[in-house]
Amino acid sequence: MMVVFLGPPGSGKGTQAQRLESDHNFYHFDTGSRLREEAASGSELGERIAACINAGNLVPLDVIRELIVKFFDGSIPARVMFDGFPRNLDQAKVLSAALDSRGLQLSQVIYIELEQAALLARIANRRVCEHCGTIYNITTNPPFGPCPAGYPGCALTQRKDDSPEVFKQRLKVYMNETLPVLDYYLERDLLRRIDGDRTIDAVYASVVEILELPEHAAT
Ligand code: AP5
Ligand code: MG
Repeated sequence: MMVVFLGPPGSGKGTQAQRLESDHNFYHFDTGSRLREEAASGSELGERIAACINAGNLVPLDVIRELIVKFFDGSIPARVMFDGFPRNLDQAKVLSAALDSRGLQLSQVIYIELEQAALLARIANRRVCEHCGTIYNITTNPPFGPCPAGYPGCALTQRKDDSPEVFKQRLKVYMNETLPVLDYYLERDLLRRIDGDRTIDAVYASVVEILELPEHAAT
């Protein structure tokens, strides 16, 4: 099962994907996290990537294409969740070609809708554990209990691109470049919209309903 999560910055794509990963064994293909890892490595490529991310712009297509080609050249997990990819029409075509080359198809494209005012509040209050990558929110989803990576607690950090200024640019890029991708999947009868302005549990209930999965993992 191949699924894409689309939505503006802060709409909850990563949160829902992390839950599908732990409950239903989805492979979480998160281009943002992969790119941040490369950026943190200090490599020459990482420096190029960091400059794009920190300005709120998309990383060039050749970098993304390489990630995708590598993924589709390997052994492909049974359940894959693409989070934050594709982000423009060129990337959507890269994904279609990669799927075709392996005789695969997307099952669903889930679009999480949320108004701009709510997005900024979520971004400003987001914290991410630097050990395990779990996404939290100091108001709507605070951390409790031990870190899933085995530490006594999660070490919370803020993403560099979560400032109000960079958020503004990320949103602009989203409107100009990513919104046309919705039409691309609408035309292919794959797009499902869900209301992101609800609790994490309520959004998740819609996600699993669309994917025809049980709400809770089998124990
Ligand atoms: P990326 O990391 O993908 O960022 P994004 O798309 O802007 O989305 P976010 O990760 O900010 O938000 P999210 O929807 O995942 O929300 P989350 O679940 O964290 O990309 C970053 C950068 O990398 C890009 O700007 C670009 O430079 C580059 N990049 C990435 N992919 C690329 C690509 N394919 N091509 C080119 N460049 C690329 O939730 C947000 C907050 O809200 C959290 O605090 C969470 O706890 C909280 N929350 C979530 N759901 C709810 C809810 N229902 N109720 C209350 N709070 C909630
Ligand atoms: Mg994310």
